[in-house]
Amino acid sequence: MIAAENLTLRYPGASDPVLDGLTFSVEAGGFRWLLGPSGAGKTSLLRLLALAARPTEGRLVLLGTDLEGATRRERTRLRRRIGNVFQDFRLLPHLSAFDNVALPLRLAGRPEGQIRADVREMLDWVGLASRADAPPARLSGGEQQRVAIARAVIARPALLLADEPTGNLDEAQAERLMQLLAELNRLGTTVLVATHNTGLLKQRPGDVLRLEAGRAGLF
Ligand SMILES: Nc1ncnc2c1ncn2[C@@H]1O[C@H](COP(=O)(O)OP(=O)(O)OP(=O)(O)O)[C@@H](O)[C@H]1O
Ligand SMILES: [Mg+2]
Repeated sequence: MIAAENLTLRYPGASDPVLDGLTFSVEAGGFRWLLGPSGAGKTSLLRLLALAARPTEGRLVLLGTDLEGATRRERTRLRRRIGNVFQDFRLLPHLSAFDNVALPLRLAGRPEGQIRADVREMLDWVGLASRADAPPARLSGGEQQRVAIARAVIARPALLLADEPTGNLDEAQAERLMQLLAELNRLGTTVLVATHNTGLLKQRPGDVLRLEAGRAGLF
């Protein structure tokens, strides 16, 4: 599902690489916590896995595709199978909560009737049924985060990358989110969650990928 070998990322102008020769793998259907102090490179690693950046060195095989030889088309197809919960949400400001969540289904060409039913059910699940028409600017931080989560999972991605997905949620909402991720994982999605909130680990034990100043180890 994910196989990284000697994965290295150096930002332009930086003297040290942010990720320095990471080797790890995550099996299909696996669940991993990605831990590490602020600045350790969690978001940077997720960007590589989301195909939003290319490694400076090393090899990455995602969903059976070696990214090195992958064409643009293959990369685009891969991206559609990956759900992302961004640390900073990245909702589209001119779209309502409903339309933000509907976006992946519309890109996948699902029929509008099914989209309406699925999006309503998902918004209901994350407790935002009454906020469906609101644009992101009129939602609280936690509400925006829940829209971002709903958008990431609605199309049942093969791989879900969640970056600090409970950063703006209260305890009850965080618990509900964990149920959602566990259910998605049970249905076959491989899940990788970056977090500082180690309390979450008690709710959902799983293997840990730990970044320490760019070095990853499995614990
Ligand atoms: N686009 C960029 N250009 C240059 N340096 C960057 C860029 N993005 C991140 N960095 C640097 O890379 C390092 C790792 O950042 P990253 O955002 O991956 O950390 P993180 O583990 O996600 O931190 P946090 O827990 O605070 O979200 C930091 O030192 C950061 O300043
Ligand atoms: Mg981060």
